[in-house]
Amino acid sequence: MNGDCLLEVRGLCKDYYGLKAVDHLDLRVQRGSVTGMIGPNGSGKSTTIDCISGFQHANAGRWFLAGRELTGLPAHRHALAGMTRTFQAVRAYEELSLLDNLRLACQEQDGIGWLGALRGGRHERANEVATTARARELLKAVGLEDYDEAPAEILSYGQSKLLAIAAAMMARPLIVVLDEPVAGVNPSTINRIETVIRRLNEEGVTFIIVEHNVDFVMKLSHHVVVLEQGRKIAEGDPGIIRSDPKVLDAYLGVDAAGGRETADG
Ligand SMILES: Nc1ncnc2c1ncn2[C@@H]1O[C@H](COP(=O)(O)OP(=O)(O)O)[C@@H](O)[C@H]1O
Ligand SMILES: [Mg+2]
Repeated sequence: MNGDCLLEVRGLCKDYYGLKAVDHLDLRVQRGSVTGMIGPNGSGKSTTIDCISGFQHANAGRWFLAGRELTGLPAHRHALAGMTRTFQAVRAYEELSLLDNLRLACQEQDGIGWLGALRGGRHERANEVATTARARELLKAVGLEDYDEAPAEILSYGQSKLLAIAAAMMARPLIVVLDEPVAGVNPSTINRIETVIRRLNEEGVTFIIVEHNVDFVMKLSHHVVVLEQGRKIAEGDPGIIRSDPKVLDAYLGVDAAGGRETADG
């Protein structure tokens, strides 16, 4: 980490029918870091990342990636600027091969789509070769290279989470936002996902990880942000967050005085 701010969010607000899902949230993500975002169910984690990746309309707030304002732009413009994401619910094209899933992700991220690609000539064919090479490289990086021509439907749930990470990497993003990357995944695949994220981060990719699995977030993150009812109640390095009485009380379900577990968060 070299300490400069890659993503800055100022005063983000999102209401759903009067419910403040995100309430004046400020965020700063350092270039090269892994930032974990935790908080109880319904605390506004998904809404926050949906807004700042262009998948939801924010009611107020501004955000900047590498100094460029992205406020209000559609999702593919965020991807073009260098921000991609995965979703809490896996979204693969089940009948398409892994390679085709990654090629399609690339077209979605560049905003051209199939039609634009079909209209193209020699330039697009050269692009296609480069895209396929990139897709193979990423399948290898996530350990799915043996299934490159197989349909996505053969993957286990955890493997489809790995495919989603590979898809988010197709456009060579600056920052990847992961929504619940290990929820519902078996322990050995969780380890694999951890290794993949760590390796990509070491290669320079910045991550925001929204995740229910606190141990997973604490192991990977340089910086942790805690939300409750749409507001940031704490942030700092994982060691500090783990022992912050406000966090223990509000999120980890531990009575700060007695250290008693009261909920699973
Ligand atoms: N599409 C929606 N319509 C109405 N309310 C929503 C919608 N999405 C989320 N909410 C509400 O906004 C709040 C924050 O939800 P969410 O961002 O999904 O939280 P988290 O990801 O932290 O579990 C919750 O109270 C949730 O019920
Ligand atoms: Mg969520």
